[in-house]
Amino acid sequence: MQNQNSSKREIRELSDQLISQIAAGEVIERPASVVKELLENSIDAGANRIELRLEGGGIKRIVVVDNGHGISKEELPLALKRHATSKISNLFDLESVGSLGFRGEALASISSVSDLTLTSRTVGEKQAWTIDEGEIKPASGVQGTRIEVSDLFYKTPARRKFLKSEATELAHCMGVIERLAISHPDVEIVVIASGRTILSLPRSDHFDRMERMMPKSFIEAHRTVSVETTSVRLYGWVGLPMVAQPRANHQYFFVNGRFVRDKVLSHAIRQAYQDVLYGSNQPMYCLFLEIDPRQVDVNVHPTKIEVRFRESQAVHQFVFHAVEEAIAQSVVCESVREEFSQNDLEKNNVKCVTAPSYYQQKSSALVYQGVDQYLDFVSPKSAIVSDEGKNRVSIDSELDQQPQKTIAKQIPQPLGRAVGQVLGNFIIAENSSGVVLVDMHAAHERIIYERLKRSWDERGFVKQNLLIPYVFSVTATQMATYEENKNELSRLGLEVTAVSVNQLSLRAAPQILDQQIGDSGAELVRDVLDDIQKYGSSAILTEKRNEVLATMACHAAVRVNRVLTVAEMDAILRQMEETDRADQCNHGRPTWVEISAKELDSFFMRGR
Ligand SMILES: Nc1ncnc2c1ncn2[C@@H]1O[C@H](COP(=O)(O)OP(=O)(O)OP(=O)(O)O)[C@@H](O)[C@H]1O
Ligand SMILES: [Mg+2]
Repeated sequence: MQNQNSSKREIRELSDQLISQIAAGEVIERPASVVKELLENSIDAGANRIELRLEGGGIKRIVVVDNGHGISKEELPLALKRHATSKISNLFDLESVGSLGFRGEALASISSVSDLTLTSRTVGEKQAWTIDEGEIKPASGVQGTRIEVSDLFYKTPARRKFLKSEATELAHCMGVIERLAISHPDVEIVVIASGRTILSLPRSDHFDRMERMMPKSFIEAHRTVSVETTSVRLYGWVGLPMVAQPRANHQYFFVNGRFVRDKVLSHAIRQAYQDVLYGSNQPMYCLFLEIDPRQVDVNVHPTKIEVRFRESQAVHQFVFHAVEEAIAQSVVCESVREEFSQNDLEKNNVKCVTAPSYYQQKSSALVYQGVDQYLDFVSPKSAIVSDEGKNRVSIDSELDQQPQKTIAKQIPQPLGRAVGQVLGNFIIAENSSGVVLVDMHAAHERIIYERLKRSWDERGFVKQNLLIPYVFSVTATQMATYEENKNELSRLGLEVTAVSVNQLSLRAAPQILDQQIGDSGAELVRDVLDDIQKYGSSAILTEKRNEVLATMACHAAVRVNRVLTVAEMDAILRQMEETDRADQCNHGRPTWVEISAKELDSFFMRGR
């Protein structure tokens, strides 16, 4: 039996209505798509006030009223016609689009799947005009445009079935509105849903708008990004790793004012956060990229959600470096910066230079108060890094060489002074606002990891001979990996020789590691050999370099249950204050927490 579909049928031209309905399939998926198109049109028309009314989650009715330049009476039919636009007129325009719309398709698509009424009045006209079902009639109204879209998809019931509940559709509409609100702070936006005003945003600036739209946790823990070259500019805010969350919410990236989801950009951001996020947590950010429109193709996707950069590699690097630098500074480091003017910092040689953040203005918890006030508490004994201590923990040489009294006078200590060690792994310290608990292994691991990365980037590892070579046994696989990768090991600062068929001897280690590395050194070499085996020798000095350095840092870090002197603990705290990303361990977990005096009091029901 012949299939009915496969029998020969006449070729016919589709009607304009059907062509638009097919096009609408790509652009208009749900009420939120209508909201997006209408808002973008209002913004393109130069409106600085837009009012939206939504009924039934936008399925029943969407009304958008703006105060933009309007559409003249003669042009009303054209506005609803397919492939009719005032925004581009030739290929050159298409290659340098500066407006949000340019396809000349949105209104035609929407009107093909709904009941659409367009009313508008330009600045020169004495009255408004409305077009409904092709008929133009006089109407009342001030300058601007009013578009009413009712009964979405009533003409295409199959499509309507895909819509979710009114509440879900409303949430999608709000998502679209939020994005446009963040990128266009100079536009007043009012949203009324089923008769209730649910959003009212006055005209404002970018920072204020961001503050209104982003979650509180982000407002309290973010960094500012602001980097500019002659051809691109990136600015905005990135959340600190500590407020990353399991879901990819609140990730806003705008290219020339347009919200996009772009693989190049999201990869650059992911990479910038690569070793500070816990598990699969997602960062929050709100970033604006401004670039010559000729450098970016926006004509890639029907809903314009994707873009293509002409120099995608360069854009990737630019975004990666800007974001990485912004989040590198730890909270403690930043609080040092806040407390001292730039002059003081230069005088004291404190390396905390990052874009100013709003965080510290809000977080009184971390602000250091009066160095002198608690200088008295610091006993000379605990303040000076003892020689004994130096042998036991690798302590930052720059800090070792300064008498502690001077350090305390010049550098505030947000993590406070060490009091003792508990449960084998936690340093308890007291700072000006309460008690600080530090995971000593995790914190020290990050300190060493950052030092290894910096040293590698700056000059490669300088090897230093161990006082006594350390002999240890290895498996046959490890021995084979050693034989084939002596050069790689040497580049990693590890001087290793074979002393028998299953024994290696560690003779030198990177100078920046503790020279009393002993047992840990053996573990370190074994694990590095395993890494080489796992990643392949060509990758370990390139794309897997950070993994290998993290392995080394883990073994070189002070071990759990190692008893530290107060001076050693203080040294770790001071190093944390100077280390990029010190707020998280190499796996993205926090390295320290603070319990304020107020919280402590509340444990004991003491009213202050
Ligand atoms: N709110 C408005 N104010 C003034 N003019 C408008 C408004 N909405 C639409 N127009 C006019 O109608 C034309 C058609 O709008 P439509 O949204 O269909 O296409 P577009 O914005 O040009 O391109 P795209 O399909 O990419 O959105 C626009 O080019 C613009 O001239
Ligand atoms: Mg449009």
